[in-house]
Amino acid sequence: MSDLQLQIRQELQKFCQKQIEPHIEHDDETGLFRMDVFQQLGQLGFCGMTLPEEFGGAGLSYKDLTAALMEISKSSASYAVTISVSTMVQSILDQYGNQKQKEKYLPALTSGEEIGSFCLSESSSGSDAASLKTTAKKTEGGYILNGSKLWITSGGIAKTYIVMARTGEEGHKGISAFIVRDGDKGFSYGKKEKKMGWKISPTRELVFENCFVPEENLLAGEGLGFKIAMSALDRGRITIGAIAAGMSERALEESVKYSLGRTQFNQPIFEFQGLQFMMADMAVELECAKLLVEKAADLFDQGRNDQKLASMAKLKATDACMKITTDAVQILGGVGYTSEYPVERLMRDAKVLQIVEGTNQIQRVVIARQLKKQFS
Ligand code: CAA
Repeated sequence: MSDLQLQIRQELQKFCQKQIEPHIEHDDETGLFRMDVFQQLGQLGFCGMTLPEEFGGAGLSYKDLTAALMEISKSSASYAVTISVSTMVQSILDQYGNQKQKEKYLPALTSGEEIGSFCLSESSSGSDAASLKTTAKKTEGGYILNGSKLWITSGGIAKTYIVMARTGEEGHKGISAFIVRDGDKGFSYGKKEKKMGWKISPTRELVFENCFVPEENLLAGEGLGFKIAMSALDRGRITIGAIAAGMSERALEESVKYSLGRTQFNQPIFEFQGLQFMMADMAVELECAKLLVEKAADLFDQGRNDQKLASMAKLKATDACMKITTDAVQILGGVGYTSEYPVERLMRDAKVLQIVEGTNQIQRVVIARQLKKQFS
């Protein structure tokens, strides 16, 4: 870890202890997202870390971003994912937007004043993203959107939505990407999901009923939406891996501390070899996860966008997180199953990491396809 990454983690650790930890149990129970907490993270420079300074970003690397997300997710996966998805939206605007779009939408996102949301999935197109059905019909001066998006992270709290919709033929070549804003006529919010975890981060349906989107809000060009979404997910998957690694770090920390303090059969339970082996395995899995996430981020920072590595990092880190957080609940025993300790929340929050931004089965598909390309 570089000195800067160490500094980032120390600063965020202090912030999370003061601003997130005191409310986390209450907010997880009530599903309260605190916009002021997000905005404070923005004021500290953590909501647009990888964006150019010209648009209010911090001009830092993906490796720096993964360090920040690891620290935030130790306290709250929900705030970490809000930042990660909003940063993905910013990177889409930065990479595919024109100067006017960047100037108009990026500063409010990089500063954390507003949140960005990525809208690809629909009720009948999850893993098979190219089969999406929301339409964008060309009309004078723009497009008319009809359809709905499901399981949208930050739905309702975000202001800028990148929406993938069909402008042409079936399949990926007929998909385009649009900027839609909260409050646009014909755009409304559907049901808010009741979830196992990520309770502070709202997940919501978006509904488009004859929603007019001006031509100037089309990103890059007609038919490029699928590639825009896929290349953004390559980045997003690294950040999901980082969130998983941070949560695993916390689960291991809680396990070691608790087992050193808890006495049974006249000795700290840490001294039982059965538990020591569990914690040693957790530590090994965590290190593997972190190394893959850091390697994937490093390659990305060097301009070598490696889909295979991004999928490997997401797959390894999130599967490890599910195992580590489940084992942490086991080590803490009865209290681990209660909300008195954070491990039950970590375990609930871990599950969705194996599902979002491409299920871990899809990550294997991506890895296998790259292997085929590499060796045939
Ligand atoms: N970058 C750029 N282009 C890419 C690409 C990438 N990573 N991956 C594929 N493409 C291009 C291909 O080159 C191809 O282009 P050509 O036809 O010009 O050669 C085109 O896209 C189609 O590619 P595929 O044939 O591989 O597409 P596919 O239909 O077989 O799908 C898939 C591939 C990997 C299964 C993809 O559909 C996928 O990733 N599915 C999962 C969807 C997903 O991750 N959803 C997440 C929802 S968002 C979310 O969870 C965020 C959140 O809010 C937390």
